[in-house]
Amino acid sequence: MTNNNPIGLFDSGIGGTSIWKEIHQLLPNEDTIYLADSKNAPYGQKSKEEIIYLSCKNTEFLLEQNCKLIVVACNTATTNAIKELRTKYKIPFIGIEPAIKPAALHSKTQKIGILATKGTLNSELFYKNVEQYQDIQIIEQIGYGLVELIENGQINSIEMNQLLHKYLTPMIQSNIDYLVLGCSHYPYLIPQIKKILPENISIIDSGEAVAKQTKKILEESVGLKENTNPSKCLFYTNSNSDVLSGILENKYPIIAKDF
Ligand code: DGL
Repeated sequence: MTNNNPIGLFDSGIGGTSIWKEIHQLLPNEDTIYLADSKNAPYGQKSKEEIIYLSCKNTEFLLEQNCKLIVVACNTATTNAIKELRTKYKIPFIGIEPAIKPAALHSKTQKIGILATKGTLNSELFYKNVEQYQDIQIIEQIGYGLVELIENGQINSIEMNQLLHKYLTPMIQSNIDYLVLGCSHYPYLIPQIKKILPENISIIDSGEAVAKQTKKILEESVGLKENTNPSKCLFYTNSNSDVLSGILENKYPIIAKDF
């Protein structure tokens, strides 16, 4: 089965490009449309109703562009809104959730840390996920301020380093051996996080798993792009064009649009 329509992705901002990069690497032939709702970032502090409203708005924008499948490249939007999206729209959705399972299965200390937004950690979907691992101690930390700094292009700032130290030190002291990054913005912090964590603590994010799942669904039911024209990758944002461009190493033109 083939389908030449693009894959759509959205996030509260630039963080979901970490997922886009994994998808583009695995499926380089596919056309993509990425929507960064940076004007409304962060989603993590918003109510479930607001997150559902914004997720529907983003979905409708991508549907207008004939996307064949939508990747919700945001843990907060997935954990709060994917059920409603799947009910309301016929198109297949791929969501992203914190990778608790591989961390819990591989942990030797039986203690894992998770860094995510308030919206993700307080969601019913996250609660149900965590409930399955009663033998594992899960140390949860809300990453207050991290998304805002990333959206402002301050990944390498002193303030970022101070916040990461504050959030990670109690986890290190609790003897975790896995740190789960439960927000698609956080993979951009891996170099700084690695400087803080001792070597025995592994970092896990969900990007590769989402890319593999996207490929599987395209192969099984939606269809891969048939023609071998070079892929067309469009990036839309309603704020911060320079920061989005920078995170993509200035390789792609950014379309500024007020949605
Ligand atoms: N990238 C979003 C996530 O994965 C960030 C959420 C936010 O905007 O607070 O949760």
